[in-house]
Amino acid sequence: MISIKQLAETRGDLTSIPTAYNFFTPNNDIHLPVVSDELYEDSIPTIDFSLLTSGTPEQRSKIVNDLGKACRDWGFFVVINHGVPESLMKVMIETCGEFFKLSEEEKQEYAGKDILDPIFYGTSINGAATQVLFWRDFIKFFVHPKFHCPTKPTGLGEISMEYCKRTGEVARELMKGISVSLGLEEGYIEKAMNLDSGLQFVAANLYPPCPKPDVAIGLPPHSDYGLLTLLIHNGVCGLQVQHKGNWVNLNPNPNAFVVNIGNHMEILSKGKYKSVFHRALVNETDARMSILVVHGPALETVVSPAPELVDNETNPPAFAGMKYREYLEMLQSKIHARLSPK
Ligand code: OGA
Ligand code: NI
Repeated sequence: MISIKQLAETRGDLTSIPTAYNFFTPNNDIHLPVVSDELYEDSIPTIDFSLLTSGTPEQRSKIVNDLGKACRDWGFFVVINHGVPESLMKVMIETCGEFFKLSEEEKQEYAGKDILDPIFYGTSINGAATQVLFWRDFIKFFVHPKFHCPTKPTGLGEISMEYCKRTGEVARELMKGISVSLGLEEGYIEKAMNLDSGLQFVAANLYPPCPKPDVAIGLPPHSDYGLLTLLIHNGVCGLQVQHKGNWVNLNPNPNAFVVNIGNHMEILSKGKYKSVFHRALVNETDARMSILVVHGPALETVVSPAPELVDNETNPPAFAGMKYREYLEMLQSKIHARLSPK
């Protein structure tokens, strides 16, 4: 399949796009109002990571409380003062950008077929033959428990390894806070999800400029699998999060992490914490890049609601236990099922 970069570039005078990219059609009922998060008294929560790790007990307990509220009410939050060097974040974005500049032949070497392929270059969504195509190229690679990475461009391996080590540390600390916020022991998630052999992967997305941003979409509404995703971006707007029946623009400072709850955290928390739908829009002038590091359970770990969580609800959400690997295989076969909130 032709990459979006190639499509956007080889037709320099592109004023229309192939109809397969028509996402916003009149009978597509995803037209929720778009608002800015300032509309809400409780705008997208910001978590000061330094207080979580080295604050006073009072500060820590306040942050844990805020963290719990963020996971319940938004499923998304912004993490500041996380200690990961800005220079490392920048060079990670630049180097992933270099990957997309390789020739199509070089990139095709990494063309993936299966969601469990440790390196997967593709366009649209996991190469799925969906009816509508998406204005996005991506490279995914598994970095933990075993490190995989494209051999080109130079430096990508080293930089990704360091970047993922650092984001992994932040994710673990956040998961400790999240455990406590659920009333569980600090190390609960870490242990129950076998994070020592947890699946951690990078997904770098490139959204080239699009002549019809009102018709095409970068990524349709979806939720993420795994436990916790840490996202950074190149400063170009596009990410929107569903909140109280609206699409809320999420354009934080590029030095911060955008963190969201994945489907497996929702399952583990018995639905207390929400894996919220989000989408990526494209624009006419600027290429957008986002780099995600997705932190999940070990592939062979069965994820089911934590039995330790007490239910006050009369009708608790039911989730069947399933191995993370089986979930991903199921997703592979029903890749369309989670594309729309309905
Ligand atoms: C994703 C995703 C959002 C973005 O890749 O799962 O939600 O801003 N990306 O690129
Ligand atoms: Ni996502």
